[in-house]
Amino acid sequence: MNRSFDEIYQQSIDDPESFWGKIAQDIKWIKPWNTVLDSSNPPHYRWFQGGELNTCYNCVDRHVDEGRADQAALIYDSPVTDTVKTFSYRELRDEIAVFAGALANHGVTKGDRVIVYMPAIPEAVIAMLACARLGAVHSVVFGGFAANELAVRIDDCEPKVIVSASCSIEVIKVIPYKPLLDEAIELAGHTPDHCIILERPMLECSLTAGRDVDWKAATDTAEPHDCVAVAATDPLYILYTSGTTGEPKGVMRDNGGHAVALKWTMKNIYGVEPGEVYWAASDVGWVVGHSYIVYAPLLNGNTTILYEGKPIGTPDAGAFWRVISEHNVGVMFTAPTAFRAIKKEDPAGALIKDYDLANFRALFLAGERLDPDTLQWAEKSLGVPVIDHWWQTETGWSICSNCLGIEALPVKQGSPTKAVPGMDLHVVDDNCEEVKAGDIGALVIKLPLPPGTFPTLWNAKERYIDSYLAEFPGYYKTADAGFIDVDGYVFVMSRTDDIINVAGHRLSTGAMEEVLAAHPDVAECAVIGVVDDLKGQLPLGFLVLSAGVERENSKIVKEVVAMVREQIGPVAAFKTAIVVARLPKTRSGKILRGTMQKIADGEEYKMPATIEDVSVLPEIEQALAALN
Ligand code: COA
Ligand code: AMP
Repeated sequence: MNRSFDEIYQQSIDDPESFWGKIAQDIKWIKPWNTVLDSSNPPHYRWFQGGELNTCYNCVDRHVDEGRADQAALIYDSPVTDTVKTFSYRELRDEIAVFAGALANHGVTKGDRVIVYMPAIPEAVIAMLACARLGAVHSVVFGGFAANELAVRIDDCEPKVIVSASCSIEVIKVIPYKPLLDEAIELAGHTPDHCIILERPMLECSLTAGRDVDWKAATDTAEPHDCVAVAATDPLYILYTSGTTGEPKGVMRDNGGHAVALKWTMKNIYGVEPGEVYWAASDVGWVVGHSYIVYAPLLNGNTTILYEGKPIGTPDAGAFWRVISEHNVGVMFTAPTAFRAIKKEDPAGALIKDYDLANFRALFLAGERLDPDTLQWAEKSLGVPVIDHWWQTETGWSICSNCLGIEALPVKQGSPTKAVPGMDLHVVDDNCEEVKAGDIGALVIKLPLPPGTFPTLWNAKERYIDSYLAEFPGYYKTADAGFIDVDGYVFVMSRTDDIINVAGHRLSTGAMEEVLAAHPDVAECAVIGVVDDLKGQLPLGFLVLSAGVERENSKIVKEVVAMVREQIGPVAAFKTAIVVARLPKTRSGKILRGTMQKIADGEEYKMPATIEDVSVLPEIEQALAALN
């Protein structure tokens, strides 16, 4: 008889060692672990201590050896270049092995870092897995970030090699990558030994002699490289994510726990069996791309889809349905914003009828709050379960979900269902005391975090403790606030820090404020996230100008908008700022961003008891009204 979700969940919490120890047998180990969970140095925990494996072997070679050599491993579907290309497991293994050889020829060995700055093309996946094959540590940087953000990452992880491409294609715009790469290297203190550049025919670039190598030339002269054994606790990748300052946090993922947990999620959370086609419509630069375009589906022997396109405009709002029907997708994962975009263009879902979606059985959404309108529209239009699940770059896989492969639970609108096995989720108050069911507090996960999450931040052990573990001793702080109801359903309400979610992309308003503050005419500033029908939230800046500045406000606003685009990137979607005389503050000088946000969103707000000067708020209201 199948065990219930509650039973499996409880076992994972009561006896995590036996729970994950058993699941770990699904992975091919070169050397078995000595201890499933090393708890000898809390709050640091290590999974599968003593074990050795290779993640790339588990993603591709193993499936070739076990009878999936001719099965499609990766389908690259690119409406922007009018290309569909399929790689079997054998072909993917061979491409990865050769590129690993090329990296090795350029000096990359176990433990070295490699930055991958590429659009959603197969070579990005090949580069990631080639690093894993060598035991090198990849750090993929999303293409929508500016050169400055890339430079910060170069300085933090000090890559030996950067792998990039000549350009990306955003719907119909061709975006040159090489100038961004050159500028980033110029800005950074650290210089990589080499850059391996894939020339794309839409826009080729010139290579810097002595440093840059053409991808084709590098692979033409390379021999396939074998998988290198690494410790379960060795780093697999670093993924930078927005923190509460301009300095991004380098989330570090290990090899062993990551492989164990991610493979398990495919069947147990997504209900996907080996051999099936699974599609995460995201970008390799985000955590969803790492976990669910690349690692989890390949670990599980699935066919994964890499889509270089948008939900709309490539060519229309039927793009997702075409991909699902053409490639026989069983389960899909994307962000609610993508569905809002489709709904806006095709409210009646008329384009869905043009495609055969008979094999499509579930849609998973995450990355931001799933609004009821989008949920209902997706359910009604597609006629399949729509599963909201909640997770973060830090956790690497979901904290809460309806686990379709264990037991499909009834859906409660507005809730990503319950904490998944391994995630011991609680709601606490400021004193770290558990609150009553239904009461809002900080969502925290009791340590140890399950395998596949993050044992530390790259180069920032203290920041790991300070940011995540210090405020609620014994718990990981998710920085999301919410509640758990009497049935154990979780409701995620808002971030407790300065993070906003713009089109499913995580951004720090603090980082944007740092950019605005650097403008010579700006004395003070604040950035908040305001509700947006399409992107969920959009950043909005408030500027207080220095005394004596007499330049036109509109000119200054234009300049700060350009600065954010230049220094953070187009992905920040920072397009508006308003000049105000003063910012509302508490008597101790803290800017009341929460109150400003409520005013901007048209919500009711209470006059904060600690406000320094009540007359500032009407000024803010007027400025916002003038903007609308
Ligand atoms: N390289 C270079 N530039 C990029 C880029 C990349 N990889 N990705 C985005 N950009 C640019 C865009 O061209 C745009 O520039 P613009 O200001 O010149 O128009 C800007 O960054 C913002 O892009 P985006 O957030 O994608 O907004 P959009 O208006 O182009 O599209 C959506 C809106 C909703 C269609 C789009 O955001 C989307 O498909 N989102 C899906 C969400 C997703 O994949 N989330 C990942 C987590 S699951
Ligand atoms: P990222 O690290 O980019 O994945 O962003 C993580 C943040 O996105 C979380 O901390 C939440 O604030 C938000 N988020 C992700 N998924 C959900 C969800 N299903 N519901 C509500 N918020 C979500």
